[in-house]
Amino acid sequence: MVLQNTSLKKYNTFGIDAEAKYFSGFANAQDLQATIEDICGADLSKNKLLILGGGSNILFTQNFEGLVLKNEIRGIETIHEDEEYVYVKAGAGENWHQFVLQCLHNNFAGAENLSLIPGNVGASPMQNIGAYGVELKEIFYSLEAYHLREKEVHTFSLNDCEFGYRQSIFKTKYKDQFAILNVTFRLNKYPVYNVSYGAIREELQRMKIEKLSIHAVSQAVINIRSSKLPDPLETGNAGSFFKNPEISSEHQVSLLEKFPGIIYFPLENGNVKLAAGWLIEQCGFKGMRRGDAGVHNNQALVLVNYGNATGMEIYKLSEDILKSVRKKFNVLLEREVNTV
Ligand code: FAD
Ligand code: EPU
Repeated sequence: MVLQNTSLKKYNTFGIDAEAKYFSGFANAQDLQATIEDICGADLSKNKLLILGGGSNILFTQNFEGLVLKNEIRGIETIHEDEEYVYVKAGAGENWHQFVLQCLHNNFAGAENLSLIPGNVGASPMQNIGAYGVELKEIFYSLEAYHLREKEVHTFSLNDCEFGYRQSIFKTKYKDQFAILNVTFRLNKYPVYNVSYGAIREELQRMKIEKLSIHAVSQAVINIRSSKLPDPLETGNAGSFFKNPEISSEHQVSLLEKFPGIIYFPLENGNVKLAAGWLIEQCGFKGMRRGDAGVHNNQALVLVNYGNATGMEIYKLSEDILKSVRKKFNVLLEREVNTV
């Protein structure tokens, strides 16, 4: 059923009360096509479309004067296995963490570091979700996506997706062109642990884990995340609002002279990644509140809605943060959250 002038408040984790002119769920590609034709007719160009998952990486800065299509494609199945790997296909509308839990339950390894990331399976390739030393691309095998204008299903392999740090072809060349229908993951039958991230090792020690398991790694990640990041059910947010910026080593050397405490991580390409949270904190924004828009008390990279902030208020705060960081450090932050 297509709803009209519907509030999106419960469909985005920022809790922004924007409206969608039209709103409908879809459970498969045929359903999706029928709804689009029903609302837009033959001419898509006059109408805006937005495919929505769990709404945990989106900021509505205004009402959406088009058709919001909420992905509700379900189903998780093992489609193939060989000596080393098992290939699992999941519907785009499956909840990401529930999918991770199912992998853990079946002893399929690889997704454990990505435990408790909000949102749905279908959005996971959009920005190549990552956390605690692992990115989606490490367990990604392929996906099927529906081209909204060509009305055809395309298959994308790992290489086709052009994954990068919080980046994929669906955010660049193919932005707004596809609805991801399902994702196939390649999971390990025999775990290859990634506990390179210091905080995981510390948490495993604190938990007194003697024998490493994917369950222990998952629990460690859950513990760290729960202590650091605000729960969207209590305080509206979309996780990190900005990406951690990459700069040249020359720029880093000059920054280090002025700011000896700067937090950075060397990259394989010779550049350096800076901790955006630290930069924002140094500009005095951590814990600041303007009306109901604010910057989280424990994590300056997370912008929050204390109740009734508008998307525009959050966006303006992000503009001020951008300007401040550029002025103080000559570093340009880039938003991770999709603004609509
Ligand atoms: P949505 O917010 O619904 O959509 C995000 C974008 O993808 C939108 O542009 C939307 O149009 C598009 N989209 C969604 N589904 C589809 C589809 N099926 N087909 C085509 N386009 C689609 N992210 C990380 O990478 N690492 C983290 O550690 C992390 N931690 C977080 C912690 C918190 C507390 C929160 C609130 C968010 C966090 N995030 C993190 C961000 C977010 O969880 C991920 O980006 C997640 O993948 C978004 O999923 P979603 O289904 O909610 O996407
Ligand atoms: N820091 C500060 N002040 C702050 C926040 C952080 O000094 O206010 C410092 C920390 O002390 C730490 C460093 O910055 O030394 C990095 O902080 P943290 O470990 O919390 O990670 P992050 O870089 O802020 C990134 C991802 C998260 C992901 C975690 C764990 C980005 C943009 N964010 O955060 O992803 O969960 O690492 O891997 O890459 C997301 O994408 O939404 C997200 C939450």
